[in-house]
Amino acid sequence: MMVQGKEQKRNYYFTTPIYYVNAKPHIGHAYTTILCDTFARFHRFMGETTYFLTGTDEHGEKIEKTAKEAGMEPLAYVDTIVPRFKELWETLDIRYDDFIRTTEERHTNVVRQVLSLLHDKGDIYPGMYRGWYCTPCESFFTEKQLENGKCPDCKREVREIEEENYFFKMSAYQTWLIDYIKTHEGFIRPRSKENEVLSFLQEPLEDLCISRPRSRLGWGIPLPFNEEHVLYVWFDALINYISAIGYTTDEKKFATYWPATIHFMAKDILRQHAIYWPIMLKALGIVLPHCVLAHGYWTMEGTKMSKSRGNVADPTAVIETYGRDTLRYFLLKEVTLGLDGGYADDYVASRFNTDLANDLGNLVHRSFSMLEKYRAGVVPERPDDAGKYRAIVAKATALADTVNEEMDTNLAPRNALIAIWELIGMANKLVEETKPWTLAKDPARAADLDGFLYVLFETLRFVAVIIVPFLPDTARMMLTLLKQDTNPSVAAVREWGKLVSGTVLEKGRPLFPKVET
Ligand code: ME8
Ligand code: MG
Repeated sequence: MMVQGKEQKRNYYFTTPIYYVNAKPHIGHAYTTILCDTFARFHRFMGETTYFLTGTDEHGEKIEKTAKEAGMEPLAYVDTIVPRFKELWETLDIRYDDFIRTTEERHTNVVRQVLSLLHDKGDIYPGMYRGWYCTPCESFFTEKQLENGKCPDCKREVREIEEENYFFKMSAYQTWLIDYIKTHEGFIRPRSKENEVLSFLQEPLEDLCISRPRSRLGWGIPLPFNEEHVLYVWFDALINYISAIGYTTDEKKFATYWPATIHFMAKDILRQHAIYWPIMLKALGIVLPHCVLAHGYWTMEGTKMSKSRGNVADPTAVIETYGRDTLRYFLLKEVTLGLDGGYADDYVASRFNTDLANDLGNLVHRSFSMLEKYRAGVVPERPDDAGKYRAIVAKATALADTVNEEMDTNLAPRNALIAIWELIGMANKLVEETKPWTLAKDPARAADLDGFLYVLFETLRFVAVIIVPFLPDTARMMLTLLKQDTNPSVAAVREWGKLVSGTVLEKGRPLFPKVET
């Protein structure tokens, strides 16, 4: 990607937010995780060293409150929810390299070290806090920031707080941060969000209240320099991105993966990632991640889908009906990364029927039917493709670069899919224009039919390989049908003509069988 220092650094480290375990995951969480999984799979496919981290955020008031309502101790409660997340990622075949829980010692130890370091440095100091707190957002606000007395972010009730606490000296870093953002294009993506952060930073940045008296909040990491206080959940949570990869414990691993390539999230938590986190890292003397990327919201009937609101769609229901590749395809294709998207089961059905079952599924099905019918399943000789097939060969062989450009430079998986579907469209058009059913009736045109079938199947091979990071199940099925390596790298689509003539292929089950709803 076009970011600072990328020339020297070819390792990729992608993260999702660590989700609150106050309810089971919904389409919104599935989206960020699928997005991150797609980028990780893509860079592995490109042969790059890649690390993918996800996890759960288990401390704080919100969790303490939910546990209490369930009549359980916080840890016992979170232990019942964490498996819901892990099961969903398993069901979705999410290939993360690590799953971090903030209640794990490997995390809490690093957090305490960070706190001691910043305290010794003078960046953490005690003081009186007076202000308002939104529990669903786990965020502090000043009187002035409230909107009609409610949380400016989620518009819900806030609570007044006045107590002795510890503060993190964010204000001291405000000028530095503004300058950093302005001189590092692409650090905050999309561009519109960079402007939002910069405009927020035009107001004086207040020091961050980072503790709660233990008497009021028991569920958190105690401050090493004052055990009567526990740490504010956001300060705890952000550190997961470095504690998981060995900050202070595994120098080699940390040096291999840090700085992160992209922290993925929705816009709800951009401020924490684009303001608190960079300042925390700067204070620790750690370089900043290459990019924090805020995508939009999935909405239900116009309102943000949210655990605390309860207006959620269940990813497992979608998977049961349409399969997990359909969910991936829908989420990646329906919106431009960064914009909001409306969710409805009908929209998923429509993507399934048109792009998947019709464009891709039918292409594969009729290609194999023709090969069986006209050539007993045997892949014919490769034709001279400099003439009539020039366009489709050019499209196929350029596709890896196009997709790489969309993923690595533009961070635009939607455009990558559009480019892949252009090749699928060309293959369908080739069938329509060649009319193989008439060629098959004319023995004099046997070579034409052979050539057409070869080009068609070689195109299918290109499609099967290039969709590996996006639609892993479909790719695996297609590659199996085509008798190819089911775990290919980009090298398989650099060169045209690798499909071996004489290979005998058999039609399989339909890739996207008709769904009865
Ligand atoms: O904020 N549309 O956790 P969280 C799109 N623990 N994405 C959505 C979404 C929606 N309607 N709803 C949720 C937290 N998400 C903190 C994070 S990170 C150091 C700590 C996704 O459980 C999206 O990625 O509230 C969003 O940023 C995240 O879930 C919020 O998850
Ligand atoms: Mg939230």
